[in-house]
Amino acid sequence: MTRKFPALSSKALLSPMAGVTDVAFRAVAKSAGAGLTCTEFVSATALVRASEKTQHLLEVHPSETPVAVQLFGSNIADVIDAARQVQDSFDIIDINCGCPAYKVIKTGAGSELLKDPQKIAHIVNELVSHVTKPVTVKIRIGIEESQLNAVEVAKLVEQAGASAIAVHGRTQSQGYSGKADWSVISQVKQAVNIPVIGNGDVFTVADFAQRIEQSGVDYILIARGAIGNPLVFRQIVEFEKTGTFSPISSQEHFESFFSYLSLAKHYDIPVSVIKNQAMYWTKGVVGGSKIRQQLASAKTIEDCEKIIRTI
Ligand SMILES: Cc1cc2nc3c(=O)[nH]c(=O)nc-3n(C[C@H](O)[C@H](O)[C@H](O)COP(=O)(O)O)c2cc1C
Repeated sequence: MTRKFPALSSKALLSPMAGVTDVAFRAVAKSAGAGLTCTEFVSATALVRASEKTQHLLEVHPSETPVAVQLFGSNIADVIDAARQVQDSFDIIDINCGCPAYKVIKTGAGSELLKDPQKIAHIVNELVSHVTKPVTVKIRIGIEESQLNAVEVAKLVEQAGASAIAVHGRTQSQGYSGKADWSVISQVKQAVNIPVIGNGDVFTVADFAQRIEQSGVDYILIARGAIGNPLVFRQIVEFEKTGTFSPISSQEHFESFFSYLSLAKHYDIPVSVIKNQAMYWTKGVVGGSKIRQQLASAKTIEDCEKIIRTI
């Protein structure tokens, strides 16, 4: 039985990013108009072992509706246990089959699962029968250029009961280099009836409009384009409603950082993470490199705030 993927307010969704999409960042992206937010990936095995660090990753802001949790793991029992543990707090359970990081793939999880499409289908099948929420999968287009299997995986997970599939148009061996291959994403869209969420190299409203139009995907996940720039969602929503959009003023840009900062304090986000976020917000700002040097030696949240206020 396939559960329905929820209706979303925008076709632009915030892609999960470890170390970036903390609860405070997601709340800012949500208020800018992101159609869906998702936790960064959470180890199913760590969750089952009740690791405290993992609990922190599961915090959700009240504005995040609907909200997804992303789990990774290769041990099916752990993935199911973890999903059952968290399902009451989330609207969607997403399984990461795309992470190319060595520490993840060496355990057989993330994009390594693409080597065994039947196992992915089995995980989805088991999850669908053990949890009450829609199950989705985020994949890459294959392990390498000569082994593209996104269409095969998409068909299998659809049959297994997945409610949607997200496809990042790179291979495992590409990591983050080269370009996302949107022609494969379009093939996936044509091959299945569940919603397809395209992902890769969408940084601007123009990229978004072009990819939606050419690939026909139902939604687009934006990752790097939202780092230090959650207002990209404000621009896309404006574009979706009116066909046009206004630039982000410097004031609006930094106001979004101060919103982040106040939420980050509330949720006890570590200073090291806040410092990184502050640095991302100064990308492309006049004098940004000097400000980033100052931020590098900031010790407290107040230091970060003072430095950003000097801009
Ligand atoms: C810093 C960083 C952390 C990421 N962490 C995750 C993650 O936890 N889960 C996931 O599915 N993808 C993760 N990704 C991949 C992104 O969600 C996305 O698939 C990829 O960056 C391509 O989209 P983009 O071209 O819009 O950046 C991460 C990417 C970056 C840059």
